[in-house]
Amino acid sequence: MSADALVLVERDEPIVVVTLNRPKQLNALSEPLMEELVERLAELDRDPAIRCIVLAGSERAFAAGADIGEMAEAGAIDMLYARRVERWDAIRKLWTPLVAAVSGFCLGGGNELAMSCDLIVASETAKFGQPETGLGIIPGAGGTQRLTRAIGKAKAMDVVLSGRFLDAREAERAGLVARVVAREAWLEEAKHVAREIAAKAPVAQRLAKEAVNRAYETTLELGLEHERRLLYLAFASDDAREGLTAFAEKRDPDFQGR
Ligand code: CAA
Repeated sequence: MSADALVLVERDEPIVVVTLNRPKQLNALSEPLMEELVERLAELDRDPAIRCIVLAGSERAFAAGADIGEMAEAGAIDMLYARRVERWDAIRKLWTPLVAAVSGFCLGGGNELAMSCDLIVASETAKFGQPETGLGIIPGAGGTQRLTRAIGKAKAMDVVLSGRFLDAREAERAGLVARVVAREAWLEEAKHVAREIAAKAPVAQRLAKEAVNRAYETTLELGLEHERRLLYLAFASDDAREGLTAFAEKRDPDFQGR
């Protein structure tokens, strides 16, 4: 990996830390960075040795949004051809659980990227916002949709229309953030959460992730039916035999992801 890579990958199997690496620009999500990020995540998603991915920025900023300089140069049709939507869809479709480790600014596209992960672990320094309307644009990668589903209309309207930042505690209370951790331990704590996740059965994790995400998109009745079918599928896995037997035998399970 070259020292000037826009995305750093540090394997610590069964987890891996993927770090956005434009610290001087507060990890503004330029096209090259997003392209590199999606490529690295896709490679890791195909790797059975990796059971959870931590996506981190720097201590000062997870990411301060899309690259404003790049956007200032682009016309609407350039945006269309840039295939941004496909990149965001690729992140949404990853199988491997993804933990966003957020410290500092998490704004605009940065917040949308964090919300595309499965859960957010935030340093007490984290600041979440969607300041796009101050630039004359609106959020374009889920900032009006995922945020509203996560924290409800009242707070989402406040964040999107006023540009106000939520601090970590308010974001946790509102339902955007899963855990708030101490400033100095933000990355270690996120890795700890990732190891907890990685210790569980991989097939079950993939199905559980699918089931929870389905809750956003369907009626309760259809969601429950989908959940039940996924449970039967989980039952058919070797990991289910192993997990249930290991419990009865009072030992730790040895999941193979089959
Ligand atoms: N794009 C490009 N560069 C950015 C950037 C961004 N989103 N955010 C920060 N930077 C750059 C700054 O230009 C600055 O560069 P220079 O040192 O070369 O001048 C460097 O990062 C450090 O930033 P500041 O000096 O501004 O740092 P600060 O501590 O004074 O302020 C901040 C921090 C409040 C986050 C401020 O940088 C800021 O407001 N950034 C923009 C946030 C924003 O509006 N994000 C939304 C982008 S639009 C979007 O994301 C679209 C979408 O969803 C589709």
